Amino acid sequence: MKKHIGILTSGGDSPGLNAAIRGVGKAALNYYGMKLIGFRDGFRGMMENRVMRLDGGELSGILTHGGTILGTSRDKPHRMPIDGKMQDMTEVIVSNYHANHLDCLVCLGGGGTLKNALHLQEHGLNVITLPKTIDNDVAMTDITFGFDTALGIATDAIDRLHSTAHSHHRIIVVEIMGHRAGWLALGAGVAGGADVILIPEIPYEVERVAEAIRQRSLGGKPFSIVAVAEGAISLQDHQKRLEKAARKAHGIKKSPAEKKEPAEIRYADNTLELAKKLELLTGLEARVTILGHLQRGGIPSAADRLLATRLGTACAELIEQGHYGVMVAARGDGIEPVKLEDAAGKVKTVPPDHPWVASARRVGTSLGD
Ligand code: F6P
Repeated sequence: MKKHIGILTSGGDSPGLNAAIRGVGKAALNYYGMKLIGFRDGFRGMMENRVMRLDGGELSGILTHGGTILGTSRDKPHRMPIDGKMQDMTEVIVSNYHANHLDCLVCLGGGGTLKNALHLQEHGLNVITLPKTIDNDVAMTDITFGFDTALGIATDAIDRLHSTAHSHHRIIVVEIMGHRAGWLALGAGVAGGADVILIPEIPYEVERVAEAIRQRSLGGKPFSIVAVAEGAISLQDHQKRLEKAARKAHGIKKSPAEKKEPAEIRYADNTLELAKKLELLTGLEARVTILGHLQRGGIPSAADRLLATRLGTACAELIEQGHYGVMVAARGDGIEPVKLEDAAGKVKTVPPDHPWVASARRVGTSLGD
């Protein structure tokens, strides 16, 4: 009997998604003789049974396209916003899986998608995921597709920002994506020769950052590039976060004063705040560049196309073998099927003793600690 596959993309878009759809699709259709349909806009489209034909023509010419031909969303099967209320639509999704006579659902996504895939597996569906995100924060896989392309974009941006920094003797603070992980900022910071790299895993002290910049000035280089991960946090804010978590864990209610505190300022606010402080502490002008969604756009790199194709074709082979309930993890030049329950809910962050961190320190980069 021909196997029937459903495929969807969920979470933030990323370079390589279409290469992965093509890898799964071409192998399934042409090599294994399976049938394939796509669901639009992630789990939302599956709940609404918005199906896209994927029987050949749609897979041609998409290898080099950014984004996802299927569309995506961050909606979760069990907490879907409908008419202003969060509703559990798991049963509707399960029913659409069977109505389309599927043997397997392939979900391309990051950490959140893994949790959603595990949830659907627990409701009886055969599910396989592929690790996608520019953040590279999915556990149990060497790397995620999207990361290499974003690394190139962020590194190119840092290269370009050097021009203004040394021409105007300025501090250029460039904010790099990565959510709560520092892989992208660390990798691009090292590759781009940033003078300071701040990542969430190493809470920074702004005075130490300022001192590093001052020392560079005294050494005849009155300019600095500060690569800051969007999730980077000062030691002070890190300690506040720990205290808040401890109080919550002990069921201690917020004091009236704390209730008035703004929710944790996130991302761009932190970065603008940091630039202002560095300007005051060093006497150098500071300017801010927020790379944002530029890092997710455009043509995927060759490495991401190769990785996405490898993972996609391996996914089709696992379906042929009836090997479900796994994430297709990149392992060296090959792949390894990792049980969904082993990977879901885990975030891969940068170990403070990671070789990339050591390399940054050895070339004189300040990590703010
Ligand atoms: O997870 C990928 C990512 O780009 C993160 O780096 C970033 O914090 C987030 O998505 C942005 O989400 P959205 O595209 O929904 O604003």
